[in-house]
Amino acid sequence: MQVENLSWFPGHMTKTRRMIAAEIGHMDAVCEILDARIPMASRNPDIDELTVGKPRLVVLNRVDQADAAQTKEWAAYFRACGCAVLEVDAKSGAGTNRFAAAVRELLREKLRAYEEKGQVGRVMRVMVLGIPNVGKSTFINKVSGRKTAKAEDRPGVTRTKQWVPVDKTLELLDTPGILWPKFEDKSVGIKLAFTGAIRDSVVDTEELACHLMEYLAAHYPSALCERYKITIEEGMSGYDLLIAAGRKRGFLVSGGEVNTERMANVLLDEFRGGKLGRFTLESPQDYAD
Ligand code: G4P
Repeated sequence: MQVENLSWFPGHMTKTRRMIAAEIGHMDAVCEILDARIPMASRNPDIDELTVGKPRLVVLNRVDQADAAQTKEWAAYFRACGCAVLEVDAKSGAGTNRFAAAVRELLREKLRAYEEKGQVGRVMRVMVLGIPNVGKSTFINKVSGRKTAKAEDRPGVTRTKQWVPVDKTLELLDTPGILWPKFEDKSVGIKLAFTGAIRDSVVDTEELACHLMEYLAAHYPSALCERYKITIEEGMSGYDLLIAAGRKRGFLVSGGEVNTERMANVLLDEFRGGKLGRFTLESPQDYAD
């Protein structure tokens, strides 16, 4: 698989690892931001090892774009793994007002112990982690009221760690550096590309659109048929579906052939833009042992 995104250059991964290792000891908890549409594919594969022993709040972000029933299943899955879970749409802010309470609930024993020692009002520190484009900056801005524009996340642009206060006794550490997904797994790369998280070519557009057609035909057939006015017949491949949809849209080239490249771009744009509806592209059952 090609991953041309220089943000995930091995040197940057090493640097990010070092930065997390240097700071984690000072943290009370870790807040891991995931894309609710692809909660596993949007995870950093090394996060457990990097943050071992720290209480974890999983934020399922982009719930406005995800399948609501699947979001519930994922929330239950992460709770069963011992994490606190918050379902959020960081763009509108829905759910973000529960963040501070969720952190305090997660840390209630520690807070009670401090209280018993008379240390009321001790500041709790939370490291916020997430792969690029998951909505980390939007989330931090919403929970803190931070107005600053997103700092550059590019190689060669130095970004220092940022402490972001949420209230008097809760602070976030917006870690500089780039957290990588598990991109050695091709299916992860494809899911990230479906959502637009990887903008660089992972597979070519038509191939990606064929995979998406197959997924939608298998899991959300009615949304696909309604949007493109097509009928899914037994044995149709993703490419067949792309041709059928392109023909309905009238995307023809001379000779009457379907311009599949144009249809592929339309499918991906419409999917990412929410025109086909709300989807989750993996479920906890996919990860059952
Ligand atoms: P990052 O720091 O993790 O890299 O991501 P960032 O917050 O920059 O968010 C990436 C894009 O995703 C932004 O859109 C942001 O508005 C959008 N986004 C973040 N959270 C959510 C969410 O819960 N729901 C939806 N629908 N979108 C979300 P953009 O197009 O880059 O910018 P803009 O359109 O907001 O200006």
